[in-house]
Amino acid sequence: MSRFAAVIFDLDGVITDTARYHYLAWKRLAESQGVHFDEAFNEHLKGIDRMGSLELILASATRRYSDAEKLALATEKNEHYKELIATMTPSDLLPGAVAALDDCRAAGLKIGLASVSRNAFTVLDRLGITGKFDYVVDAGTIAKGKPDPEIFLKAARELRVTPDACFGVEDAVAGVSSIKAAGMYAVGVGDPQVLAAADIVIPDLTQFRLEQYK
Ligand code: BG6
Ligand code: MG
Repeated sequence: MSRFAAVIFDLDGVITDTARYHYLAWKRLAESQGVHFDEAFNEHLKGIDRMGSLELILASATRRYSDAEKLALATEKNEHYKELIATMTPSDLLPGAVAALDDCRAAGLKIGLASVSRNAFTVLDRLGITGKFDYVVDAGTIAKGKPDPEIFLKAARELRVTPDACFGVEDAVAGVSSIKAAGMYAVGVGDPQVLAAADIVIPDLTQFRLEQYK
């Protein structure tokens, strides 16, 4: 019996490996502007929305960019990203993802999705799991991205549960900060040293154990 009434999942890097596709698309974009881009820098971009990520990349560029240029670069990255996700199928679900969702459902929890990606609906659709969620936040309605708590609080409100009755599942430092700022229990997915602010860290969803989250 879980003390929680709802679980709110992140998408990219938790349920499917789109974090890899974001990385590849940002790397190509950054290098086209002469900005060095590697896995370590990418770690800071995980969970950060599109324009916020672009600003972080362009902070290392040798010149300044107008708003119109920034919009064009963000669109270019997104077009590349959309090409990368176009071929996704249910086989791109990460191991343990469906079992974790089904365990939460079997325990009577409501299930939400809190991704700042404006492509989240497309990715869920390609993975064939849209119907497994009671509520999916539309990233276009969020004013402040992660690490602000807005997106997790909105998911809780729409699921009609209080934040203290929710736990969030995240692979990003910014995402774990967002969950904790929302007053929720945080399950980190990845490296415990990177996700030190989480209440518990598991390497991937094959290790998801609902009964251990208190
Ligand atoms: C987050 C990813 O889920 O969505 C970030 O972790 C990404 O890497 C962000 O930049 C925004 O995604 P999109 O699809 O709206 O550009
Ligand atoms: Mg993520």
